[in-house]
Amino acid sequence: MTEPYLRFDGISMVFPGVRALDGVSFGAHAGQVHALMGENGAGKSTLLKVLSGVNHPSEGGLWIDGERHVFANAREALAQGIAIIYQELTLSPNMTVAENLLLGQLPTRHGFIKRRQLRERALGILADLGEGDIHPSTKVRELSIGQQQMIEIGRALLRNARIIAFDEPTSSLSVQETRQLKRIISRLREEGRVVLYVTHRMEEVFDMCDAVTVFRDGKHIRTHASLAVLDHDTLVSEMVGRDIEDVYGYRERERGEVILEIDAIEGRGLKAPVSFEVRRGEVFGLFGLVGAGRSELMRLVCGAERASAGEVRFQGQARRFASPGEAIRMGIAMCPEDRKSQGIFPVASVADNLNISCRRFFRRWGVLRDTRRERANAEAYIQRLSIKTPGPRTAIGTLSGGNQQKVILARWLAEKIELFVVDEPTRGIDVGARRDIYTLLFDLTEQGKSVVVISSDLAEVSSICDRIGVMRDGALVEVVPRHEATQERLLGLALPA
Ligand SMILES: Nc1ncnc2c1ncn2[C@@H]1O[C@H](COP(=O)(O)OP(=O)(O)OP(=O)(O)O)[C@@H](O)[C@H]1O
Ligand SMILES: [Mg+2]
Repeated sequence: MTEPYLRFDGISMVFPGVRALDGVSFGAHAGQVHALMGENGAGKSTLLKVLSGVNHPSEGGLWIDGERHVFANAREALAQGIAIIYQELTLSPNMTVAENLLLGQLPTRHGFIKRRQLRERALGILADLGEGDIHPSTKVRELSIGQQQMIEIGRALLRNARIIAFDEPTSSLSVQETRQLKRIISRLREEGRVVLYVTHRMEEVFDMCDAVTVFRDGKHIRTHASLAVLDHDTLVSEMVGRDIEDVYGYRERERGEVILEIDAIEGRGLKAPVSFEVRRGEVFGLFGLVGAGRSELMRLVCGAERASAGEVRFQGQARRFASPGEAIRMGIAMCPEDRKSQGIFPVASVADNLNISCRRFFRRWGVLRDTRRERANAEAYIQRLSIKTPGPRTAIGTLSGGNQQKVILARWLAEKIELFVVDEPTRGIDVGARRDIYTLLFDLTEQGKSVVVISSDLAEVSSICDRIGVMRDGALVEVVPRHEATQERLLGLALPA
C-alpha cells in the first residue's frame, strides 16, 4: 500500500489533570473515509484540534504528504489544506450565507466587497452541494442545523481542503440531510481527499467508511485498514475495553395504570388532533423524521406551549400546565433536545451544573445550600452515568461533548418526577454510556415511573420502547406495540407517503 497522506506521529496532549492524548500514531490515506471512534472523552475532538492547529500538542507532530508539521495556529493548518467541521458549528449567525462561505477570502476591489461576484461564487457552491434552495443573502441564523453544516462544508470545499474532518456531523441532522451528507462524502473520497469522520454510530462506520481507528482513554488502540473482516462486536469491545452483548438491555416489566392521557390535543406544530396514553412503568417512544412534530407535541403536553384544544389528564386529573415549571411541580419534566443552548454554564463546575434545577430539594430550612449533599448527589450521578471528569468541581466547559450531555441529563433525572420526557437522550453519547442511560431509564420504570423517549434513532426506539407512536407531518399516524416494531415498519410509517 502507498504511504498515508496524513500521519499522526506520537501525539500527546496534556491538560491540567487530564492526559487527553497519549502517544497517538496512525496514518490516513487519500481517497479514503477514515472513521475515528471511541467513548466520550477518548480524545477524538482533541486530536482534530491538534490537526487544525487549535491545540498545540505537548509531544509529537504531523506528517502531511511526506512533510512534518506542527501548526502554531488554525491559519497555518488551513494553509496546508486542512478543514474541520466541528461538533459545535462555527458560522457567524448574523452574517449572510455568502459572507460566511467566503469569509476570509471575500472578493474585493479598492477595499469594497464585490457583491455580484460574491453572490455568484456562493450560488455556484450551493448548487454544487445540492442546496440550490438556499439564497446567498439569507442570514445564517435562519437556516436549519443541517443547512448550516452544508455551509461549513462549502467553506472547506471553496478553500480546496485536502484533508476534511467531520466531528459527529450527523448527530443533529435529519434523515434526508444525512443522506445528502453521505453523497457529499462519497464525492470527497472520489476526488482523492482524506476524510476523517468522528461518529458514535456503528452503522455509519460500516456503511460509509473504508478504515477505522479506535481510541480509548487518549490512547490509540487499533487501526483497521479495512472493514471487510471487522465485525460490530469486536469494534464495540475495542472501544469500551470489555464485551457488551446487548447495548439496549431491554427488560420485561410490569406496567400499571394509565398515568398520562392525551385526548385530541391541538396546537402549534400539529396539523391534526393527537390522542394517546402512557402507562405507569412504560417506556413510550415518539419516532418520526426531524420536523414531524414530536417535540412540539410534548411541549404542548408539558406546558411549554399553550394547547388550542383538547385535554391532558395526568394521574387521573385534567391538567393544563401554564408553564414547564408547573408541570415539573406536578411531576412531569421534559428534558429538551437542545441541551447545550438550554443552560450549560461553561465556567461553573460539574456539580453546580448538575444541581442547578433541583437545588431546591437540597436546601435545608429552605434557604441554605447544603453543599455536602449537592456534592454527594453530583458524585452519585458521575458514577451512575460514568461521567468522565477529574471531579465534581471541574468546570463543565472542559468536558468532552458527550460528557457535558450526560451532566445535563442527570440534572433532570435528579428531579422528583413521575413522568420523564426525554428528547434525543443519547445524541452524541457513546455505546458504553448509552447502555448506562438505558439501564437508568429501565431502573426508573421499575420504580413505577414512566418515560416518553423522543428519538430519531430507529435502532434505539425499536429496541428500548414498549410502544412507539410514529409521527409524520404534524400528526400521530400510528402507535405500534414493541413486538410489531420492526425498523422497516417504523420508517415506512414515518416517511412521507
Ligand atoms: N480545553 C480543555 N481543558 C481541559 N481538559 C480538556 C480540554 N479539552 C478536552 N479536555 C479533556 O480531554 C479529554 C478528551 O476530550 P475530547 O473532547 O477529545 O473527547 P471526545 O473523544 O471528543 O469525546 P466525545 O465523544 O464526548 O465528544 C476529556 O477528558 C476532556 O475533558
Ligand atoms: Mg468530541
